[in-house]
Amino acid sequence: MSEGPVPGIERVLFTEEQIDQRIREVAAEISRDYQGKTVKLIGVLKGSVFFLTALARRIEIPVKIDFLGISSFSNRSGAPGVVRIAKDLDDAIEGDDVLMVEDIVDTGLTLRYLLQTLSGRGPNSLAVCTFLDRNSRRIVQPPVRYRCFEIPDRFVVGFGLDYNQLYRNLNYVAVMERKRS
Ligand code: PRP
Repeated sequence: MSEGPVPGIERVLFTEEQIDQRIREVAAEISRDYQGKTVKLIGVLKGSVFFLTALARRIEIPVKIDFLGISSFSNRSGAPGVVRIAKDLDDAIEGDDVLMVEDIVDTGLTLRYLLQTLSGRGPNSLAVCTFLDRNSRRIVQPPVRYRCFEIPDRFVVGFGLDYNQLYRNLNYVAVMERKRS
């Protein structure tokens, strides 16, 4: 979906060109850091799919991909961050150089759970690359090695990020209008 007026959107935060440029830079960094190795990109469904495929195409060393799906919900006291794996990886990661690929890191609770879980499976290395980082919402601080953009504390859509499962296919990232009361 190309740029144009979309209902509910306040403004474009990152254009298609800015995103492409930044992904090239991060992919170059990854290609340097993992020189001589094969990097296994693990995407967390569904939001990261768009970023993962764009990133993978710009990486210049051998790449493997795999995906996992999670469900997260609040516990009985209403606290967020109870996470479980709903769709596991297809393959083992023992001995692999694993790069977790996220569309966004908010509270950090999803990532903390995933890093704890995957580190127990014996990868050779385990690091994180996120498209967007909304650091102002952090509750825990799992290590994030690569990030494309820091974003303000606003609801954003596009390039994988959804509102009620819509808008993931926007070629840009946009801020949603604040709801009027
Ligand atoms: C997003 C994102 C992370 C999680 C980050 O997924 O992909 O997995 O939220 O949030 P946290 O840092 O607060 O734990 P989402 O639940 O929106 O699912 P989706 O990718 O299918 O849209």
